[in-house]
Amino acid sequence: MILYFSGTGNSKLVAHRLAALMQEKIYNLEQGAPPALHKGERLVLVAPLYFWTLPSIVLEYLAQHQQLNRHELHLVITCGGALGAGASLMTRQGRRLGFHEIYVHALVMTTNYIPLHRIQRPETARKAIDAALMKLPEVADKISKKQGAPTSIFLQRGLPLAQGMYDRARHTRHFYVTVRCIGCGLCEKDCPVQAIQLLSGSPKWIKPQCTLCLRCVHHCPAAAIEYGRSTVGKVRYHPEKLFSIEQDTQSKEV
Ligand SMILES: Cc1cc2nc3c(=O)[nH]c(=O)nc-3n(C[C@H](O)[C@H](O)[C@H](O)COP(=O)(O)O)c2cc1C
Repeated sequence: MILYFSGTGNSKLVAHRLAALMQEKIYNLEQGAPPALHKGERLVLVAPLYFWTLPSIVLEYLAQHQQLNRHELHLVITCGGALGAGASLMTRQGRRLGFHEIYVHALVMTTNYIPLHRIQRPETARKAIDAALMKLPEVADKISKKQGAPTSIFLQRGLPLAQGMYDRARHTRHFYVTVRCIGCGLCEKDCPVQAIQLLSGSPKWIKPQCTLCLRCVHHCPAAAIEYGRSTVGKVRYHPEKLFSIEQDTQSKEV
Protein backbone atom coordinates (compact mmCIF):
# COMPACT_ATOMS: atom_id res chain seq x y z
CA MET A 1 0.00 0.00 0.00
CA ILE A 2 1.05 3.57 -0.65
CA LEU A 3 0.23 5.87 2.23
CA TYR A 4 0.94 9.56 1.89
CA PHE A 5 0.94 12.96 3.50
CA SER A 6 1.35 16.07 1.40
CA GLY A 7 1.33 19.65 2.61
CA THR A 8 1.14 21.48 -0.68
CA GLY A 9 0.95 18.79 -3.39
CA ASN A 10 4.43 17.52 -4.32
CA SER A 11 4.16 14.33 -2.28
CA LYS A 12 0.57 13.77 -3.40
CA LEU A 13 1.68 13.91 -7.02
CA VAL A 14 4.53 11.47 -6.36
CA ALA A 15 2.26 9.11 -4.40
CA HIS A 16 -0.29 8.99 -7.22
CA ARG A 17 2.31 8.47 -9.95
CA LEU A 18 4.05 5.78 -7.92
CA ALA A 19 0.77 4.01 -7.18
CA ALA A 20 -0.04 3.94 -10.90
CA LEU A 21 3.45 2.68 -11.73
CA MET A 22 3.54 0.01 -9.04
CA GLN A 23 -0.16 -0.90 -9.32
CA GLU A 24 -0.59 -0.35 -5.58
CA LYS A 25 -3.55 1.01 -3.69
CA ILE A 26 -3.12 4.54 -2.34
CA TYR A 27 -4.35 6.15 0.87
CA ASN A 28 -4.13 9.71 2.20
CA LEU A 29 -3.40 9.56 5.92
CA GLU A 30 -5.56 12.64 6.52
CA GLN A 31 -8.57 10.38 5.85
CA GLY A 32 -8.08 8.48 9.13
CA ALA A 33 -7.08 4.93 10.09
CA PRO A 34 -5.28 2.99 7.35
CA PRO A 35 -6.88 0.06 5.56
CA ALA A 36 -5.63 -3.33 6.80
CA LEU A 37 -2.42 -4.55 5.21
CA HIS A 38 -2.03 -8.26 4.55
CA LYS A 39 0.79 -10.28 6.08
CA GLY A 40 4.10 -9.56 4.38
CA GLU A 41 2.77 -6.52 2.49
CA ARG A 42 5.22 -3.63 2.33
CA LEU A 43 4.27 -0.10 3.36
CA VAL A 44 5.38 2.72 1.07
CA LEU A 45 5.01 6.08 2.79
CA VAL A 46 5.37 9.23 0.68
CA ALA A 47 5.95 12.46 2.64
CA PRO A 48 7.88 15.73 2.51
CA LEU A 49 11.17 16.33 4.30
CA TYR A 50 10.89 18.85 7.17
CA PHE A 51 14.20 19.88 8.76
CA TRP A 52 15.70 16.51 7.67
CA THR A 53 12.97 14.69 9.60
CA LEU A 54 9.44 13.37 9.13
CA PRO A 55 6.52 15.81 9.55
CA SER A 56 4.99 15.63 13.04
CA ILE A 57 1.62 14.60 11.56
CA VAL A 58 3.30 11.52 10.03
CA LEU A 59 5.09 10.59 13.26
CA GLU A 60 1.87 10.92 15.25
CA TYR A 61 -0.02 8.82 12.70
CA LEU A 62 2.55 6.01 12.81
CA ALA A 63 2.54 6.10 16.63
CA GLN A 64 -1.27 5.88 16.64
CA HIS A 65 -1.41 2.98 14.18
CA GLN A 66 1.27 0.73 15.59
CA GLN A 67 0.08 -2.29 13.64
CA LEU A 68 1.89 -0.71 10.67
CA ASN A 69 5.29 -1.34 12.21
CA ARG A 70 4.98 -5.07 11.49
CA HIS A 71 5.61 -4.20 7.82
CA GLU A 72 8.68 -3.32 5.79
CA LEU A 73 8.74 0.50 5.56
CA HIS A 74 9.83 2.40 2.45
CA LEU A 75 9.93 6.16 2.96
CA VAL A 76 9.73 8.02 -0.34
CA ILE A 77 10.69 11.54 0.67
CA THR A 78 10.14 14.63 -1.46
CA CYS A 79 12.37 17.60 -0.72
CA GLY A 80 13.27 20.99 -2.07
CA GLY A 81 17.04 20.85 -1.96
CA ALA A 82 18.69 17.67 -0.74
CA LEU A 83 17.99 14.76 1.59
CA GLY A 84 21.16 15.56 3.57
CA ALA A 85 21.15 13.73 6.88
CA GLY A 86 17.47 12.89 6.34
CA ALA A 87 17.93 9.17 5.65
CA SER A 88 19.80 8.71 8.93
CA LEU A 89 17.47 10.85 11.04
CA MET A 90 14.28 9.34 9.63
CA THR A 91 15.64 5.82 10.03
CA ARG A 92 16.14 6.61 13.70
CA GLN A 93 12.61 8.01 13.95
CA GLY A 94 11.25 4.86 12.28
CA ARG A 95 13.15 2.58 14.65
CA ARG A 96 11.78 4.46 17.64
CA LEU A 97 8.32 3.74 16.29
CA GLY A 98 9.11 0.03 16.21
CA PHE A 99 9.84 -0.48 12.50
CA HIS A 100 12.58 -3.03 11.90
CA GLU A 101 13.12 -2.76 8.17
CA ILE A 102 13.36 0.84 6.88
CA TYR A 103 14.49 2.10 3.47
CA VAL A 104 14.63 5.79 2.55
CA HIS A 105 14.32 7.00 -1.06
CA ALA A 106 14.63 10.70 -1.91
CA LEU A 107 13.17 12.76 -4.74
CA VAL A 108 14.32 16.35 -5.15
CA MET A 109 11.27 18.33 -6.29
CA THR A 110 10.81 22.07 -5.60
CA THR A 111 10.87 23.84 -2.28
CA ASN A 112 7.75 25.11 -0.55
CA TYR A 113 9.72 26.35 2.48
CA ILE A 114 8.83 29.94 1.81
CA PRO A 115 10.14 31.37 5.12
CA LEU A 116 13.70 30.66 3.93
CA HIS A 117 13.52 29.96 0.21
CA ARG A 118 12.26 31.70 -2.88
CA ILE A 119 9.50 29.78 -4.66
CA GLN A 120 10.42 28.85 -8.21
CA ARG A 121 8.58 30.36 -11.17
CA PRO A 122 5.92 27.99 -12.57
CA GLU A 123 7.92 27.03 -15.67
CA THR A 124 11.07 26.29 -13.61
CA ALA A 125 9.05 24.36 -11.03
CA ARG A 126 7.38 22.33 -13.77
CA LYS A 127 10.77 21.33 -15.22
CA ALA A 128 12.11 20.36 -11.78
CA ILE A 129 9.01 18.30 -11.02
CA ASP A 130 9.11 16.62 -14.44
CA ALA A 131 12.77 15.69 -13.85
CA ALA A 132 11.87 14.23 -10.44
CA LEU A 133 8.95 12.23 -11.86
CA MET A 134 11.27 10.73 -14.49
CA LYS A 135 13.15 9.12 -11.61
CA LEU A 136 10.10 7.25 -10.32
CA PRO A 137 10.77 3.99 -12.24
CA GLU A 138 14.21 3.95 -10.57
CA VAL A 139 12.59 4.52 -7.16
CA ALA A 140 10.08 1.72 -7.81
CA ASP A 141 12.96 -0.59 -8.79
CA LYS A 142 14.89 0.29 -5.61
CA ILE A 143 11.79 -0.35 -3.52
CA SER A 144 11.42 -3.82 -5.01
CA LYS A 145 15.13 -4.52 -4.50
CA LYS A 146 15.09 -3.04 -0.95
CA GLN A 147 17.85 -0.54 -1.77
CA GLY A 148 17.50 2.60 0.32
CA ALA A 149 19.82 5.61 0.74
CA PRO A 150 22.83 4.94 3.00
CA THR A 151 22.52 5.89 6.66
CA SER A 152 25.07 6.66 9.36
CA ILE A 153 24.89 6.06 13.11
CA PHE A 154 27.06 9.15 13.60
CA LEU A 155 24.56 11.40 11.76
CA GLN A 156 21.66 9.87 13.72
CA ARG A 157 22.97 11.70 16.79
CA GLY A 158 21.83 14.95 15.16
CA LEU A 159 18.15 14.04 15.60
CA PRO A 160 17.51 16.14 18.78
CA LEU A 161 19.04 19.19 17.07
CA ALA A 162 16.89 18.84 13.94
CA GLN A 163 13.75 18.11 15.96
CA GLY A 164 14.43 21.13 18.19
CA MET A 165 14.67 23.41 15.15
CA TYR A 166 11.46 21.97 13.69
CA ASP A 167 9.60 22.25 17.01
CA ARG A 168 10.54 25.90 17.38
CA ALA A 169 9.54 26.72 13.81
CA ARG A 170 6.13 25.08 14.11
CA HIS A 171 4.83 27.42 16.83
CA THR A 172 1.65 28.93 15.40
CA ARG A 173 2.42 32.35 16.90
CA HIS A 174 4.40 32.99 13.69
CA PHE A 175 1.20 32.98 11.59
CA TYR A 176 -1.10 35.94 11.05
CA VAL A 177 -3.66 37.11 8.54
CA THR A 178 -3.65 40.39 6.63
CA VAL A 179 -6.43 42.69 5.40
CA ARG A 180 -6.44 40.77 2.12
CA CYS A 181 -8.38 37.94 3.87
CA ILE A 182 -11.77 37.35 2.24
CA GLY A 183 -13.03 35.10 5.05
CA CYS A 184 -13.57 32.12 2.71
CA GLY A 185 -12.64 29.58 5.40
CA LEU A 186 -10.47 27.42 3.12
CA CYS A 187 -7.57 27.56 5.61
CA GLU A 188 -9.81 26.22 8.40
CA LYS A 189 -11.24 23.48 6.18
CA ASP A 190 -7.86 22.42 4.73
CA CYS A 191 -5.60 22.54 7.81
CA PRO A 192 -4.50 18.90 8.29
CA VAL A 193 -4.19 19.31 12.08
CA GLN A 194 -7.27 21.51 12.67
CA ALA A 195 -5.13 24.32 14.07
CA ILE A 196 -7.19 27.10 12.45
CA GLN A 197 -10.68 28.32 13.25
CA LEU A 198 -12.61 31.12 11.61
CA LEU A 199 -13.64 33.52 14.38
CA SER A 200 -15.68 36.60 13.41
CA GLY A 201 -14.93 35.78 9.78
CA SER A 202 -11.16 35.70 10.17
CA PRO A 203 -8.73 32.80 10.79
CA LYS A 204 -7.26 32.33 14.28
CA TRP A 205 -4.64 29.75 15.23
CA ILE A 206 -6.18 27.81 18.10
CA LYS A 207 -3.36 25.33 18.78
CA PRO A 208 0.11 26.28 20.02
CA GLN A 209 1.81 24.19 17.32
CA CYS A 210 0.92 22.81 13.91
CA THR A 211 2.76 20.50 11.53
CA LEU A 212 4.08 23.48 9.52
CA CYS A 213 3.01 22.14 6.13
CA LEU A 214 2.37 25.76 5.05
CA ARG A 215 -0.72 24.72 3.08
CA CYS A 216 -2.63 27.66 4.58
CA VAL A 217 0.05 30.10 3.38
CA HIS A 218 0.39 28.64 -0.13
CA HIS A 219 -3.21 27.77 -0.95
CA CYS A 220 -4.96 30.84 0.44
CA PRO A 221 -6.77 32.29 -2.62
CA ALA A 222 -6.03 35.85 -1.44
CA ALA A 223 -2.42 35.18 -0.30
CA ALA A 224 -3.54 36.69 3.01
CA ILE A 225 -1.68 34.39 5.39
CA GLU A 226 1.87 35.24 6.41
CA TYR A 227 4.49 33.50 8.53
CA GLY A 228 6.45 36.19 10.31
CA ARG A 229 7.91 38.77 7.97
CA SER A 230 9.76 36.22 5.86
CA THR A 231 6.81 35.43 3.59
CA VAL A 232 5.69 38.99 2.85
CA GLY A 233 5.64 39.78 -0.87
CA LYS A 234 6.74 36.27 -1.87
CA VAL A 235 5.07 34.16 -4.57
CA ARG A 236 3.07 31.17 -3.24
CA TYR A 237 3.36 27.55 -4.33
CA HIS A 238 0.49 25.40 -5.65
CA PRO A 239 1.72 22.45 -7.75
CA GLU A 240 -1.84 21.23 -8.39
CA LYS A 241 -2.21 24.27 -10.61
CA LEU A 242 0.74 22.98 -12.68
CA PHE A 243 -0.17 19.28 -12.74
CA SER A 244 -3.57 17.64 -12.58
CA ILE A 245 -2.92 14.74 -10.27
CA GLU A 246 -5.75 12.19 -10.35
CA GLN A 247 -6.62 12.86 -14.00
CA ASP A 248 -3.07 12.10 -15.15
CA THR A 249 -2.95 8.72 -13.46
CA GLN A 250 -5.17 5.68 -13.13
CA SER A 251 -4.60 5.66 -9.35
CA LYS A 252 -7.68 5.96 -7.13
CA GLU A 253 -7.52 6.63 -3.42
CA VAL A 254 -9.06 3.91 -1.24
C1 LIG B 1 8.63 22.96 7.46
C2 LIG B 1 9.39 22.60 6.21
C3 LIG B 1 10.70 22.18 6.29
C4 LIG B 1 11.40 21.82 5.14
N1 LIG B 1 12.67 21.34 5.28
C5 LIG B 1 13.34 20.95 4.18
C6 LIG B 1 14.66 20.40 4.30
O1 LIG B 1 15.20 20.24 5.39
N2 LIG B 1 15.32 20.08 3.16
C7 LIG B 1 14.74 20.21 1.92
O2 LIG B 1 15.39 19.90 0.92
N3 LIG B 1 13.47 20.69 1.78
C8 LIG B 1 12.77 21.06 2.88
N4 LIG B 1 11.49 21.54 2.75
C9 LIG B 1 10.84 21.54 1.42
C10 LIG B 1 9.86 20.36 1.23
O3 LIG B 1 10.40 19.17 1.75
C11 LIG B 1 9.52 20.14 -0.25
O4 LIG B 1 9.14 21.32 -0.88
C12 LIG B 1 8.44 19.07 -0.38
O5 LIG B 1 8.49 18.51 -1.68
C13 LIG B 1 7.04 19.59 -0.11
O6 LIG B 1 6.13 18.54 -0.28
P1 LIG B 1 4.56 18.73 -0.24
O7 LIG B 1 4.21 19.67 -1.39
O8 LIG B 1 4.01 17.37 -0.46
O9 LIG B 1 4.19 19.31 1.06
C14 LIG B 1 10.78 21.90 3.87
C15 LIG B 1 9.45 22.35 3.80
C16 LIG B 1 8.75 22.69 4.94
C17 LIG B 1 7.33 23.16 4.83
